[in-house]
Amino acid sequence: MIKKGIILAGGMGTRMSPLTIAVNKQLLPLYDKPLIYYPLSVLMLAGIKKYLIIVNKGQLNQFRKILPEKNNLGISIEYKEQLKPGGLPQAFTIGEKFIGKDSVSLILGDNFFYGQSLTRILKKNINLGSGAKIFLHPVKNPALYGIATLNQSKKVIKLVEKPKNTKSNYAVTGLYFFDNKVIELTKKLKPSKRGELEIIDLLNLYKRKSKLKAEFIGRGGSWLDTGNISDFYDASNFISAIENRQGLKVACLEEIALNNNWINKNQINLAINFYGKCDYSKYLRSLIA
Ligand code: DAU
Repeated sequence: MIKKGIILAGGMGTRMSPLTIAVNKQLLPLYDKPLIYYPLSVLMLAGIKKYLIIVNKGQLNQFRKILPEKNNLGISIEYKEQLKPGGLPQAFTIGEKFIGKDSVSLILGDNFFYGQSLTRILKKNINLGSGAKIFLHPVKNPALYGIATLNQSKKVIKLVEKPKNTKSNYAVTGLYFFDNKVIELTKKLKPSKRGELEIIDLLNLYKRKSKLKAEFIGRGGSWLDTGNISDFYDASNFISAIENRQGLKVACLEEIALNNNWINKNQINLAINFYGKCDYSKYLRSLIA
């Protein structure tokens, strides 16, 4: 059973410049919440209570303001800085102490998942056992993602990062489950041509040992990209449409914690004080009315 989660929230954010020069991308508003609430909500839905958030050097205090170690969510949060964006697998060397002898999940700080089937899929896969698990979702523009080619029995036969030519449109989303071998395997990786450790190379090490499994998010779920500014605003509009139609919030962290029985009315009231007078607080108040 995976009990720990790493959120990778560093990176250069150059594709979103000038928005990300002064503010980390993961703290920009995706409709009514900072972007990082969405990936955190996914792991909270999976039942994970222990977190390591990896941020850029010098940005710790920005993150602490919104997600303090002493929070009202019933979860534990630790922070570590990444000195330079040297690639996604660095999460496992930076997080070596945090991971200890356990298995671990990784979610990219800019990934947004939503859908009816999501919690079910997460709970189904959280008992990982050994190996690694990836979550696939079809995309229109495979050249922008890590892409998995499948055989007829839907087994992954090939993984390539941002392929120029590919027949597959199954993207490897930014949610990964790993057993404890991930630390040792990360240490074997060499930087790619672009000078980064590549998550696809790490997954290929698992695949070579027949230890890689894939799950499909399927039509009942969505995975939205927030990679560039237009995708970012599309995702924002998507959330706005859902929230305003249903009157329910997407990725309200306190609501998830309450439903998981990790917090009670007291913490909701503390959270209301923390956020101050705003619509988000109004929503929190409605949860305990
Ligand atoms: O979103 C899914 C895709 O994410 C996968 O399909 C790809 O296989 C994977 O390589 C990754 O591709 P991106 O090009 O989207 O990765 P990007 O460099 O934009 O980084 C994703 C997030 O991770 C972003 O929030 C910044 C953060 N990051 C990235 C790097 C390279 C870090 O915190 N540290 C890093 O060193």
